[in-house]
Amino acid sequence: MKIAIGNDHAAVALKWEILEYVESLGHQAVNYGTDTGERCDYPVYGKLVARAVAAKEADCGILICGTGVGISIAANKVKGIRAGVCSDTATARLIKEHNNANILAFGARIVGPELAKELVRAYLAAEFLGGRHQARVELLEE
Ligand code: RB5
Repeated sequence: MKIAIGNDHAAVALKWEILEYVESLGHQAVNYGTDTGERCDYPVYGKLVARAVAAKEADCGILICGTGVGISIAANKVKGIRAGVCSDTATARLIKEHNNANILAFGARIVGPELAKELVRAYLAAEFLGGRHQARVELLEE
């Protein structure tokens, strides 16, 4: 899969670790985030990744800021985007299985690198279950 990765200044180091991890799983990672620790605005990067996913330039996205919250709020403003913030692997799996989330978000100030990789692994390995969840996901777009 092609995976768009975005981050603000709070998550530069974790972004590189996640990018490398995603590629070690056999995926193509595309870096849309900032690469410097200079203060910047997370909505810019949230929307960049969201627009890439909505335009099908990437199969899905990973967003990281300090908490994962601001950058996911920004992404969710883009039509067709379902971004979920996670700090446990069950939620990372369920945002795909139930919500068909096309962006996984987490916080570099909340989760450490090993848990972050587990979140990515759980999210990427999960499949949307459809069925009763399909109509609910469709309602999100109305
Ligand atoms: C930046 O200091 C911080 O506010 C940002 O990374 C994020 O946590 C916002 O939700």
